[in-house]
Amino acid sequence: MTKPTPPLTSGALPVLGHAIEFQRNRSRLMQRGFAEHGQVFGLKLANQNVAVVIGPENQKTFFMETDNRLSIQEPYKFLQAMFGEALFLAPHDKYLEQRPLVQELFKREKMLLYVDIMQEVVQEWLDGLGDSGEIEITEEIGTLVQKVAGDCFLGKEVNHAVGREFWDLYTNVGKGLDPLLPPNLPLPKFRKRDKAKARMTEILGPIIAERRANPDKYNDFLQDIINKSAEEGRSIDEEMVRNLLMALMFAGHETTAGQAAWTLIFLLQHPDYLQKVLAEIETVAPAGEHITPKRMVQLDHIAWAVREVERLRPSADLLMRVAKEDIEFGDYLIPAGWLVQVAQEIGHKLPDQFAQPEQFDPIRFAPDRAEDKQHRFGLFGFGGGMHKCTGMNFANNEMTIITALMLRQFELELVTQNTEILRGLGANRPTPTFIRYRRRETAVPKQPLATAVPATD
Ligand code: HEM
Repeated sequence: MTKPTPPLTSGALPVLGHAIEFQRNRSRLMQRGFAEHGQVFGLKLANQNVAVVIGPENQKTFFMETDNRLSIQEPYKFLQAMFGEALFLAPHDKYLEQRPLVQELFKREKMLLYVDIMQEVVQEWLDGLGDSGEIEITEEIGTLVQKVAGDCFLGKEVNHAVGREFWDLYTNVGKGLDPLLPPNLPLPKFRKRDKAKARMTEILGPIIAERRANPDKYNDFLQDIINKSAEEGRSIDEEMVRNLLMALMFAGHETTAGQAAWTLIFLLQHPDYLQKVLAEIETVAPAGEHITPKRMVQLDHIAWAVREVERLRPSADLLMRVAKEDIEFGDYLIPAGWLVQVAQEIGHKLPDQFAQPEQFDPIRFAPDRAEDKQHRFGLFGFGGGMHKCTGMNFANNEMTIITALMLRQFELELVTQNTEILRGLGANRPTPTFIRYRRRETAVPKQPLATAVPATD
């Protein structure tokens, strides 16, 4: 007997279905669907049928299905106006060609280089903050993450040379993000996006040409993309280099900034746990010491806090696919053409996966509890399966470094007491949150970290 389609959540309006509520308060809508029907429930967004699937087994099916049956390209097609056919926006065979190239950029020896750059950039920023003051944390870290990405991806020289203009253009491209409207409508935001892309082409053109002519002169992400594709006998065209760079910056910018900010906010809201973090920093990587890979892996309490933020405040909280064929999820059949979504906000708070799921309790990830290891798809802030985030280690390292360096040099205090989740078209982030800082007496601020301790430690 054919299985039924997912039951529709209450509150659907004629014609529009749940579209308005989805836009205004999708969290409440999802919670209601889950409360009414359990792990698989339906929504209607105007004439689009949607199935929301919850729970580790359904999440596993979502992530492990092939792109041919559950397409990632289709629901994110609106991003093509910004990044062309980069990564999973490309047809599947092209994606399979690009994937190893992108993975190569994040391999271990490259990561060591990036981690050094991250420390240099974060240190420079901390030095520039003076002895005390107040900052809006997400905005501030957002700029920092751009600098890190610029130095790692474009190289320090290029990043400094193109400077602010590049990032302003990047912002204008990002503002063209719109999942609903046709991307070529003559609207100011789309015109601005296209103008910014044209100017970026002008800026990056000569830089890419110079890189092609000097394959051994630079050691950064941009050079690696060009060299690796040349090694494989494929000359990657200039547009694809630009698209890849932009897509990677976009994938890693607001996401990392949001979760790094939440990590500091949660730590400041939980002084007992913060004390454990401070003690660990003092033992493993006190002020002035370079954070070598050996030290990095000993910063367990920070790593667990970062993971708890991934669980409780995921930047990318709603992932989508389109069913290209009928697919079964549990007791239901999701017909071809339906949009399928996983929702971290519910999936990360199932009490049989995570004890007292609403609480910030990073120790749940300590080896004797290891709640995230109960099921491979229980925690999925970075996705899973073939499309699992390529930049996960990059992002986790960056969040660890920002947290450690900031806490060991400054005493911090939350000025804003009630931070909420700000949801938009892009990544989630905290609502504006001000933090007061004062330099610690013990900090060794101006020491050049890269040479403080040999990197072989
Ligand atoms: C806290 C920061 C980050 C979060 C929360 C995050 C989250 C995610 C998620 C959930 C996916 C899977 C999307 C899906 O299945 O629909 C993904 C994919 C991806 N992310 Fe991240 N990401 C972060 C940082 C980064 C960084 C720093 C980079 C690169 C510099 C990056 C590059 C990518 C790429 C290339 C993919 C696509 C992988 C593929 O399809 O092969 N991400 N990310």
